[in-house]
This record gives sequence, structure tokens and C-alpha cells, in this order.
Amino acid sequence: MQLNKIFLLILTLLFNEQIFSQYNFNNDEIEAQIDSILTLMTLDEKIGQLNQLRGENLQENNQSEAKYNIIEETVKGRVGSFLNVSSLEDKVILQKAAVQKSRMKIPLIFAMDVVHGFETTFPIPLGEAASWDLELIESSARISAIEASSLGYMWTFAPMVDVSRDPRWGRVMEGAGEDAFLGSRIAEARVKGFQGKDLSLNNTILACVKHFAGYGQVLAGREYNETTISKRYLYEYVLPPFKAALKIGAGSFMNSFNDFDGVPASASKYLVTDVLKNEWRFNGLVISDWDSFGELVQWGVAKDDKEAAKLAMLAGSDIDMMSLCYINYLKDLVLEGEIEEESIDRSVRRVLRLKYMLGLFDDPFRYFNRNDNTILRSEEHLSITRDAARKSMVLLKNENNILPLNKSKYKNIAVIGPIDSDKKNLMGAWSGWGKRENIISITEGIRNKLGDSINVHYAEACNQWEYTSDSLFDSAITLAKKSDLIILTLGEVWWMTGESASRAELNLGGRQTELAKALLDLGKPIICVMVTGRPRIFHWIKDNIPAILQAWIPGSEAGNAVADILFGDYNPSAKLPITFPYHTGQIPISYLGKSTGRPYTGQRFGASQYQDIPNDPMYEFGFGLSYTEFHYSDLTLSNKTIGSNDTLYVKCKVANIGNYDGEEIVQLYIRDVVASVTRPLKELKGFKKVFISKGKSSTVEFIISPEELKLWNADMKFIVEPGEFILMIGSSSEDIKLKNKFFVKNN
Ligand code: GLC
Repeated sequence: MQLNKIFLLILTLLFNEQIFSQYNFNNDEIEAQIDSILTLMTLDEKIGQLNQLRGENLQENNQSEAKYNIIEETVKGRVGSFLNVSSLEDKVILQKAAVQKSRMKIPLIFAMDVVHGFETTFPIPLGEAASWDLELIESSARISAIEASSLGYMWTFAPMVDVSRDPRWGRVMEGAGEDAFLGSRIAEARVKGFQGKDLSLNNTILACVKHFAGYGQVLAGREYNETTISKRYLYEYVLPPFKAALKIGAGSFMNSFNDFDGVPASASKYLVTDVLKNEWRFNGLVISDWDSFGELVQWGVAKDDKEAAKLAMLAGSDIDMMSLCYINYLKDLVLEGEIEEESIDRSVRRVLRLKYMLGLFDDPFRYFNRNDNTILRSEEHLSITRDAARKSMVLLKNENNILPLNKSKYKNIAVIGPIDSDKKNLMGAWSGWGKRENIISITEGIRNKLGDSINVHYAEACNQWEYTSDSLFDSAITLAKKSDLIILTLGEVWWMTGESASRAELNLGGRQTELAKALLDLGKPIICVMVTGRPRIFHWIKDNIPAILQAWIPGSEAGNAVADILFGDYNPSAKLPITFPYHTGQIPISYLGKSTGRPYTGQRFGASQYQDIPNDPMYEFGFGLSYTEFHYSDLTLSNKTIGSNDTLYVKCKVANIGNYDGEEIVQLYIRDVVASVTRPLKELKGFKKVFISKGKSSTVEFIISPEELKLWNADMKFIVEPGEFILMIGSSSEDIKLKNKFFVKNN
């Protein structure tokens, strides 16, 4: 056991203390080759490498409409990478133009937002985060990379790692929720999945960690808005997943649209150079978000695009996505002495370094020879996305164990609600090449599960956003009256989450709640499947419908995964990665709340509370039910007192005392009781997902290294402070099962 602990300890120290990257960003041979290329490049050609254009469909003769002829631009060496060049043929045309007709013959990189799947659509990232299953999340990214690279893409603009406590912001669907620790582990898994073991393999793609930084904190949850977070908040909650992604070897980062401390991220020397490139020693490249350089003019920090180009370059932002500020003005800025050519060389070096690491100088066409239609949506890929969907769905309520459903009890099942009216509602905002017609609807999934012996009918009843006709509504009620089970499918329409999708009202839209009431009045067995890209508020349904499954937006195998859970072929195990507010007035809300000087303990006034709503959320971070029941016991800590450099070993026992085999996500929270700065009442510092057969038990072990006990003190030093700590083991952030304390003393 001792040897095992020592090995784990060495790994932990290695991982925490060094820029632990499995990719070699510091290859002397490559750097020497880059040196020689740079000496041969003209200033125009250097600037061209920093220009990213979007693809135009070369197969149609619409070139006259395009702002620029992308083939000509490529031959002239005025573009270094493209996003959204769709066909493989177009990529080949452009790559040939680059490596056969341009003067320097530098290969292009082709990028796309491969966020939750390519042609196989995975659950939205927030849904996958609810699985807390790092291996599964890594394989989801791996499969996305395998499929995307088979169509010639070598760079994805993912993972999005923006933590957020604000479900009004539509992009919470793209991230991993509110917690920096969970978000960091998931960021690592996604980068490893995309980049694989070797970036130069033609089935791995370059990851791009976004959006750097603070986008998830837009004021009032309003898209593209300013932020007002402190440096402490930035380091405590925003930066950890970025740093985790960098440590695991992510090769690129993307500027965010927001400002931080009064400076838009694209022009923030503090974020891009001081933190990312200097403090964290990042050797990859930084790309703007779409036209975010040009937006510096709208922000009012640049008087025109030329000044925007200057600010972005001085900040250290390397590639310009689609604003044309760099290609139009960097040369003049150099000739006028406003920008040193050396700073351009530094950015070009980063771009060329990644092109070498992708193997493009060895073979610019290496990503173009795997176009094999057995890869896209293979049986294996569909099976894994079905598993990902099942493991992402959170069982929020199961009164009297109405679930799992017993097939033999029903002859006529009605699936009712707006979700299945458009399969795009089951795909998600960044579903890549996913096609509507390939999505399994909830109705289809239930039919697949039950076969022809049971009638399964569907009625839309209403939509998710406006008052719809009585005829649509009444025909659904008529169908329900003829059924012996109602599966109510509610939530959001596909355009309600993702980018540019902030919403101030989180109660369900349209006549959805009215529909639930009308159906419940029929007195038939009824359960609800909630399909949303973000937390929504649905008190009446929570209080009155006996079972609720939060399915998120589940992707290709949506219906099959829902049916697996409803009919007991999979015991739900997911836990919420983001708080579901009781009321939008509570937002920003998270489990990471602090005591305050007047903690609320139930008194009527004089404490940190509202007059009109509770402090508690509708559902807390880490919440999720199972068909079985787990019992926790035997919490042991290796030491009662440890030094500030010591590691604490924690064990507990979890027994499955219910009637189903199942997985439990055991969560470990820490509280630093007295510190030099205010601390949350609890912080997630470990989790283990364990499968336990019914009637069996399992010992669950955690390692708490100094890293997990550190805080940013008043001087912004990241240190472990001596004192008392409370350690909690829970089935959610509220459902704490075991508790103990330990002390840290100065070493
Ligand atoms: C969008 C998004 C960003 C995406 C980029 C390219 O505006 O903010 O996440 O990668 O443009 O599509």
C-alpha cells in the first residue's frame, strides 16, 4: 500500500507543479526550422499567417459575392488558416494553392467548432458534465476528433471551459457548469480526447480552450456584456479550468468577447501575455473570437480597426479570426514604428510551431486521406453517444418509484409536448455536421424499446415560447385520454440556448405548464422528460408531476437513451453540474456560497436572506437520484493533523442497499473554517463515480494534496493556510452523508 501511495504522490506532485504536457512544444529542431523559415518570409507573408478567413463554397461559382477570393488570398500568402471550409474537395484545393502555388508553400490549418460531436451528435457539454464521467467525456471528444479529422479538419474551437453561475446566459450549455474543480477535470478530459496521444496523427485535432477569460460572468447574464469580477474571482473560479487544460497540453486558446477589469480580452495584455504566456509559460497560440479585434472599436478602446490591430498585437493575441484588422493594418503599423516586427515574428513562430506539431510540414494532405464513410456515425460511435446520453440524464424526482416503468402494464402510451415536433430540439447549438433526420426522437426511442405490441402515439400540444392554438392543445388532450401512460416532454426549443441566447425569464415558456396541469387532471400515470440546454424553473411540475428526468439536449441517440432510463435498462446516475435556481432573482447562484456576517438560519429578518423567496435553489449542485439507494459509512482520514505540504488520504464505504445495480457519484467537499480571506462554506475537492451491485459495498478513496487546500490570500499568493478544515462526503452538495475535521499546521 505504501508503494502505491508514494507512486500516486509522485504523480500528483508532477502533475501539479510542472507544465505537465505530453506534447513537445519545445523541440529544438522544429524551432531551428522555424528560424530559417522566418528569415525567408516577407512581412506580408508573416502577417498572412496571422489571418484566418472563413471558407466559401468553392464548388458553387459564388466567388463574385465573397468579400475576397480565398484561393487568390491563399496563393498570395495572405491567409494562414481557415474556419468552416466544409468539403474535403475545397480543403484540397486550398491546401494545394498554399503548398504548391504560394511563394513560401506554408500549409494551411482547417478549423471548425467541433464542440459536442461531428456527425455523431453527443449530448451538449453541460449534459455530459452531469455524467461526471471523465473517461466517457474523453471518448466523446476522441470520437468527435476521429470523425472531424476524417473530413480534413485539424483544429477545433473547443473545449469551452467558461464556468458560470448564471443560467440566463445561453452558453452555459457549452460548458461544464459552475464549479472550477469539476470544470478543470472535464477540461483535461476534453483536451486529451481531441488531441489524443500525438497531435501529428491524422485522427487527432488541435484543441482550442475558450473563451479566455471571464465570458461566463457577463453582467446580468446578458450575452456579450461587460464583466465586473475581481482578480480574486478570476483566479479562484475562472482561470483554473484554463490552467488545467494548458497543463494537459492544449495547443491553442481563444480570446473572449467580454472585458476584464475594463479591458476587452482580445486587447488584454494582462490576460494574454502576463498570465497566459508569461506566468503560465504557454507556448501555443492565441486566436481571437470572431471579429473580436474589430469589436475593440465598438467597445470604445480603439478609434478604428488600425488601432484595434495595434492593441491586439501588443496584448499578444496571435491570430485574427475574420476581422481583417491584422491583414489590413499590421504592415503599416510596423512601417510606422507602432509595432515591432519582432512581435509579429513571435506570433508567427507560435503558428508555425503548431503546424509542425500537427505534422503539416511533413505531409500537408495527411488529414485528407481518411474520408471513409464507415467512420461517421459508426455503430460504435452511436453506441457511445447513447451511453453518454444515458449517463448525462439527471433523475430529479421519482415519487413512489413510479420509474422504472413496467412495460407489461401499458398498452397505449402518449408522448405529449413540443420537443419531438422538431428533432433539432434534441441536437444542441453546436452539433457540427449532425443532421436532424439522423436523430432518434423520444417517441421513436420508446417505440424502439417497446416494439409493436404497445401503441406509442405523439402529440405536440403547444410550443416552448408562445401561446398556441386550442386545436393543437385539445387534440393532445384527446390523445392522452385514450392512453394509459403519459410521457410529457417539455423544455426549450433548439434556438433558446447557445450563443446569442440570453433569457431573463427561466420559467417554462408557452402553454407548457398549462399542458402539464391539464394532463395531470386526467388522473393517468404521468412522467415528465425535460429537454433543456440550461437550468429552467418549473415549480408546479416539480411539486405535482411524480417523476422528472432532466435529459438536457441528448444528441443522436436521444430517444433510445430516454427509453433506456424510463424502462429500467439503465439506472440513472447523473448529478447536476450547475444549480437550478428557485427564482431568477437569486442569480448568480451556486453552491459555493459564503457564510456572510449574518448567515441565514431560519430567522424572520436580520440575516442574509430575501423577504419573498428562499435562499435555497430549486435543485442543488451535485443533486441526482437513482433507482437504488446508497448508504455511506466508515469515513477515515489518514491523519488528524497534517503539515501544509502533506497529503491527506481519505476513505469511506458506500453500500448499495437498494434493488438495482447502480453508479454513485461520491463527492468530497472541504471547508476552510477560518482563513485570511472569506471562504465558501464548501468547495468540491474530489469525486469518484463508482459502480456498486445491489447488496454490495465499495471502499472509496480520495487523495487530498496541498493543491486542494490552497487559497488566494489577501496578497494574491496561492498558499495553504494553517488551521481547521471540515471534510464532507456527500451525494450532493446539500446531501452530506459523512463529516469529519482535520487540522493543518505549518510544516
Ligand atoms: C463564435 C463563438 C466561438 C466560436 C467562433 C467560431 O462567435 O463565440 O465560440 O468558436 O465564433 O465559430
